[in-house]
Amino acid sequence: MDQVDIAILGAGAAGLFCAGSAMTQGCRILVAEHSRKPGEKIRISGGGRCNFTNLATSWDRFLSQNQRFAASALARYCPEDFVELVDQAGIAWHEKTQGQLFCNGKATQIIDMLMYRMRGVELRLETAVEDVHRNADGFVVTTNGGQVRAKYVVVATGGKSIPKMGATGIGYAIARKFGLRIVEPRAGLVPLTFAEQDLALCRPLAGISLEAEICHGKARFRDALLFTHRGLSGPAILQISNYWQPGEVLEINLLPEIDISEALMMARKDAGRVAVATILSQWLPERLAQAIAAEQGLTDARLADQSNGVLQRLGRRINRWQLRPVGTEGYRTAEVTLGGVDTRELDARTMQVRDVPGLYFIGECVDVTGWLGGYNFQWAWASAEAAGQAL
Ligand code: FDA
Repeated sequence: MDQVDIAILGAGAAGLFCAGSAMTQGCRILVAEHSRKPGEKIRISGGGRCNFTNLATSWDRFLSQNQRFAASALARYCPEDFVELVDQAGIAWHEKTQGQLFCNGKATQIIDMLMYRMRGVELRLETAVEDVHRNADGFVVTTNGGQVRAKYVVVATGGKSIPKMGATGIGYAIARKFGLRIVEPRAGLVPLTFAEQDLALCRPLAGISLEAEICHGKARFRDALLFTHRGLSGPAILQISNYWQPGEVLEINLLPEIDISEALMMARKDAGRVAVATILSQWLPERLAQAIAAEQGLTDARLADQSNGVLQRLGRRINRWQLRPVGTEGYRTAEVTLGGVDTRELDARTMQVRDVPGLYFIGECVDVTGWLGGYNFQWAWASAEAAGQAL
């Protein structure tokens, strides 16, 4: 049976980073990955340009049953630390919007950088982890290629999102086997699905995008909203999907800068002869303006003929559109998995399981999930660094 000091399970963002952080002279590290290539999610991330961090990273931009858990690791490994690595590797980058940093070129540059950083570590591809158990000297990891003995095991097998990209959820099975509590996983940063009556409005508008504000409880995001054949998508919807639960209502403000009923009442004074849809298209994309006017029974209706009550109803429809999604597209398209290993089981400084010395969980398989925009990779780097330094 092979013997190593550290076995890292999964060669995704967290596993690759942890291997580089844990490397010391003479320490034998093995990274086991069941796919043919390492870092597949990094490769496709950020539309192929990898949104590798966010300058506005702070613990309150993460969801978890214990939100402050992430604060320690995030404070000790900051976006600027990762940017330093990117700069040292000569990778050109830019800030797109809201602190989101992307590569100018391909995301594979980040994978190459991580691979170079962990040179000397053995990466065993097409090696599926099947089980982990403890023995007197440490742990035994069972893979499809045989068993490996390890003094320390780091579980970095990610969540359940996008099984096609290699997600298996085995990290949860390993945690359960060691008696750890799991916060029920669910799809996050995922398009929502809608009932037929909402689709009837959205479908003909597919392709239209506008900046909107979307709210659910205290969560509020202003970002692009995209009409699609399947309903609504775009960053604003993905962000709110982390907070939405089945049966709940969302509120969308299609024109966050303008109180539309006020604006229509003002316009009625000077432009009463103009059609409602034409006035609305000053502020909204034309097809959307027409669709809303038609939905409200105001096709070809003149502004002058509308009572305050009608304009207030129209205003509510645009500034406070209430919508009840029927579900999400699920793990097939979700960018992340919410929930995971309950943080009460882990030491926030090291990511080690409190009651199982030598066993660590990092990255997405832990109950810490970031907003859209580079936060999830920053959690992968920071949690990996915390474990890597402790090993
Ligand atoms: P990750 O999923 O990266 O790695 C887990 C690894 O374990 C995988 O390589 C998997 O194959 C392997 N594995 C699983 N089961 C195994 C087993 N039984 N045996 C061996 N290996 C096994 N985030 C962000 O911050 N910026 C962005 O731009 C994007 N963009 C983005 C786009 C898309 C399409 C997706 C799906 C996701 C993103 N994300 C993102 C999220 C980001 O990809 C995610 O948060 C990190 O990859 C999580 O890193 P982990 O290493 O924890 O899991």
